[in-house]
Amino acid sequence: MRPTETLMEEHRLILLVIAQAEQEAERIEQSGSVDEARVGKMLDFFRNFADRCHHGKEEDHLFKLLQHKPPARGPVAVMLQEHEIGRGFLRRTQEGLEALRSGRADGATQVVEGLRGYSELLRAHIDKENYVLFPMADQILAPAEQERLAAVFARVEGCASAVRGVSACTGASEPLKQRPCGSGRMVKAPRLGEAPGPSGVHLRV
Ligand SMILES: [Fe+2]
Repeated sequence: MRPTETLMEEHRLILLVIAQAEQEAERIEQSGSVDEARVGKMLDFFRNFADRCHHGKEEDHLFKLLQHKPPARGPVAVMLQEHEIGRGFLRRTQEGLEALRSGRADGATQVVEGLRGYSELLRAHIDKENYVLFPMADQILAPAEQERLAAVFARVEGCASAVRGVSACTGASEPLKQRPCGSGRMVKAPRLGEAPGPSGVHLRV
C-alpha cells in the first residue's frame, strides 16, 4: 500500500468520528446537555489517533520529505498551520468540559464551538490532502522514498490501540455496538445566574 493510501484510509476513520462529533454538537445545542463521557471519548480519539498517530506520520515523516520538494512546500505549510488550528479546537472542547464540571454556564457553548470548529476544519483539510497534496506526493516522491515511508509508517507506535477509539465513538464494530461511546452521564449546563448543584455540575442519568 502506498503511504498516501494508508493516510487516506486513516482519513476515512477520522471522518467517521467527525460525523459523530457533528451530531453530538447538534444534540447539545438542542438539549443543552453534554454527555461528558461521549465527548471525552471523541477527544481521546482525536488526540491519540487523529493528532498523535495520523498527524504524527504526516508531520514527522511525509511532510519532512515533501518540504524538500519545491512544489509541495506551500501546501505543506498550510497543512501544518491547519493542524495547529485543529489543536486549538480540541483545547476549546476540553476547556468546555472543564467549565461544565465547575458549573460555568458557557461550558456547553464551548464544547459545541470546539466540536464544530474541529469538524469543519478537518473535513476541508482532509479534502485538500486527499485531492491536492497526496496526489502531488505520489507524483514527486521516488519509489524508493515511498517504500521507506511505508516502512516507517508501519513502525509508528500506538496507532493500533488508538484506532479502537473509532468503535468506542461510533459503535461501528459489533462488540461496541452494545457499549456505545459514553456512559450516558449527562452534564447539564446551568443557565446564566443559576447556581450549580452540590457537585458543581447538573447531572441527568
Ligand atoms: Fe491527514
